[in-house]
Amino acid sequence: MFFLTLLAFAVGCQAKANANTPQMGWNSWNTFKLNFNESILEKTADLLVSTGLRDAGFNYLIIDDGWQAATRAEDGRQQVNATKLPNGIAPIAKYAHERGLKIGIYSDAGIYTCGFQPGSWGYEELDAATYAQWGIDYLKYDNCGSFQAGTQSPPERFSKMRDALVASGRDIFYSLCEWGHQFPWYWADQIGQSYRMSGDITAIFSDTGKDCACKTAYCLNTGYAGCSVLTIIRKMREIAPFSKPGSFADMDMLEIGNGNMTLHQQRTHMSFWAALKSPLIIGADISKLSKESLSVLKNKNIIQISQDSLGKAALFVPELSVEKVKQVWAGDLSGGRTVVLLLNELNSTQNFELLVKALPALNSRETWKVEDVWSKEVIKVKGNYTVAVETHETKVLVFSRN
Ligand code: GLA
Repeated sequence: MFFLTLLAFAVGCQAKANANTPQMGWNSWNTFKLNFNESILEKTADLLVSTGLRDAGFNYLIIDDGWQAATRAEDGRQQVNATKLPNGIAPIAKYAHERGLKIGIYSDAGIYTCGFQPGSWGYEELDAATYAQWGIDYLKYDNCGSFQAGTQSPPERFSKMRDALVASGRDIFYSLCEWGHQFPWYWADQIGQSYRMSGDITAIFSDTGKDCACKTAYCLNTGYAGCSVLTIIRKMREIAPFSKPGSFADMDMLEIGNGNMTLHQQRTHMSFWAALKSPLIIGADISKLSKESLSVLKNKNIIQISQDSLGKAALFVPELSVEKVKQVWAGDLSGGRTVVLLLNELNSTQNFELLVKALPALNSRETWKVEDVWSKEVIKVKGNYTVAVETHETKVLVFSRN
């Protein structure tokens, strides 16, 4: 039955928004939760421009859960919370558009959203038409309140909204938020442009032992929140091979600028989200970002890896990795280049032996130009060489033929 259902989706067409490279932007949830308002959103739009983040590529302003009124109107339409957003959504969309930004909104494939606001289940067409009318460019669609939505599977419920978005006549980017429970890497490419692959991220770098009930891709525990950066990277070992242009695994919002991560930890976070082709959605209050965090987010060379035209996620290299000690990941970039990530999980510096024999894309007969993306150092390499990597640092090395 499950496979028949999948087959039915395979013939459906995906919503049409262009997603050859992962989307970039800002989302209200991680900092503001349900407590944002019009002025915070407009100020964030201005900050995306004045900090240079928009020009670096962060062009979606995404309003997460909490914009809705507690009940629908008599005609069934979703209403806007009049205290937080007294003028509605359309003027905010206009405000964003006038600043060269796109605007995103949030809803849910169940009766309730995760914040217990009215979800879109049973109202998909009406809601998609309403969003289109407001000028919305992006929908993040969540999976709470789904038990009340009867026996429909997530692929069915998420496909209904895909069809409604297509029917709305507006090009609306469709970001699925199903936390990886029903393994969306097998079906989400028929439905939307990206799919969350884990429970909610938290601004903690290392696996605390208590975080994120599921630490591997095929775990069946439904508890989901509080995933550390390292746990999400762990889960991507099995999931990264499924990512492709038009359907990227979403590792959740960036926590750079939230919590107390060191510079190396923030750079590791950014490096993995970029090289594994996750959407890059800032979750911090931009008005409070330190210079250091802003420079991590705006690093041009890392963003180029994220936005590389091949759209291929780097993959885990088990032969060169040691559990809880060191990780090596590698992936193809356009122009015959290869990106290699060396992550040190220890609390002291360690050496990585590189590797040329173990990475199929590189061979030891050639001389390679190797660029260290964060330090900007460029060296020439033939055969193996050794790289020192500091605590929680990730060296991002781009290999190109000389
Ligand atoms: C879920 C999602 C979060 C956020 C909240 C809103 O937990 O995974 O990203 O959208 O719901 O309630």
